[in-house]
Amino acid sequence: MSTSDLDVDSADLLGPAALADPYPVFASLREQDPVHWDAKYRSWFITSFEDVTEALREPRFTSNRITPYREKILSRPGTDPLLREAFGVLDDWMVFKDPPDHTRLRRLLSRAFTPRSVSRMRPAIEAIAEELLDRVIARGDNHVDLIADYAYPLTASVIAEMLGVPKQDRDRFKDWSDQISGLVFGSLGDEDRHRRGAEGMTELTGYLDDLVAAHQRSEADDLISMLIAARDDDDSLSHDEVIATGVLLLFAGHETTTNLIGNGILALLEHPGQQTDLDATDPARVNGLVEELLRYDGPAKSVVRLVTEDMIWRGKQMKAGERVFLFLSSANRDPDAFENPDTFDVGRRPGRQLGFSAGLHYCLGAPLARLETSIAVPAALGRLPGLTLDPHSAISWAPTLLTRGMSRFPATYELPSGPDR
Ligand code: HEM
Repeated sequence: MSTSDLDVDSADLLGPAALADPYPVFASLREQDPVHWDAKYRSWFITSFEDVTEALREPRFTSNRITPYREKILSRPGTDPLLREAFGVLDDWMVFKDPPDHTRLRRLLSRAFTPRSVSRMRPAIEAIAEELLDRVIARGDNHVDLIADYAYPLTASVIAEMLGVPKQDRDRFKDWSDQISGLVFGSLGDEDRHRRGAEGMTELTGYLDDLVAAHQRSEADDLISMLIAARDDDDSLSHDEVIATGVLLLFAGHETTTNLIGNGILALLEHPGQQTDLDATDPARVNGLVEELLRYDGPAKSVVRLVTEDMIWRGKQMKAGERVFLFLSSANRDPDAFENPDTFDVGRRPGRQLGFSAGLHYCLGAPLARLETSIAVPAALGRLPGLTLDPHSAISWAPTLLTRGMSRFPATYELPSGPDR
């Protein structure tokens, strides 16, 4: 069946086939109806490279998708007060803001989250990757879940280390990040996920509150101190904004980078011929690899905006309040923007892939994500020889329109033989 034979009105991006491989559905959407009203999800789906790029710069699409969502949830009788507090933190996230509030927060955060503060993380990231791989190998059973045993703890530890969280508290960081994801990604009927999300948020903000207070008493050489010190003329982040930004950095940087490392290793296992380029010591080669991983199977499937006013956009009548999914993953496979877009080619000349979005909200953590992935992917393939997907256990893909990532990635590898294993 050619991709364009798929009926875009009945194709379900959350059906099992599309979760495993959404790209045929994206191709049909691009070919048949690139600005598509999806009746099931009551949302617009934008899928071509040109339209997604344009939509990311469209001021009549707001990034503030949290206020209406919060109001719906909080208007229900008997709402847990913890949820109210948790949404208060999300209100301070720059990713949900438009200018001028967004401009102010972004400027201040950029003062702290600098290329220098990222590049000096290299030795720490290398050490964390080695430690996790040592632990896997020490188990001696030749099985590994590359998400649970490696990518997930690695990315949580890196952001925790950057923020200045002591080592013994890092496992709690991982759990909180997990819980908060239920709040941000949960849908309206998800009471239990919301409650656990609110609990995680309360614990994490309580923890960060103490950490910020300790940093105010005595400055340290880490991101929390830099956030407290960040100045733009007379402006600085309030105490609550420092905490909310700490939560945002953990949340925005953890699951996404976990998924880039996971999807990246998977793409290389499925295309063993492309692994040869990993041996190259040339940093441009490794950078090319990371860019291609982001384009070919990046973790941010979409970003969401809301329509602010009734309008005709690309010939379609849109109404104020309607939700719009801008499918970055589809734009990145658009044949009008990339030659042979479905071919995974780490030697491809880096183009303008949209894996980190574009425009005002372009991912602030892109240099950190690139650095972590460029270390973590080659380290796993180097230390776990013969790494192969476990034929006996299935991969499971996260059931969401927003992210592309595995909740489990079972694999096997060859144990070194000999007495000094
Ligand atoms: C592969 C990993 C990552 C991917 C694919 C990714 C993707 C994205 C995307 C698509 C956006 C735009 C959201 C929107 O337009 O609504 C974004 C924004 C953001 N990301 Fe990332 N991200 C990654 C890693 C990180 C890391 C490691 C951090 C920091 C620790 C981070 C921090 C942020 C922040 C603060 C924003 C908000 C920027 C703004 O609103 O101006 N991200 N990211």
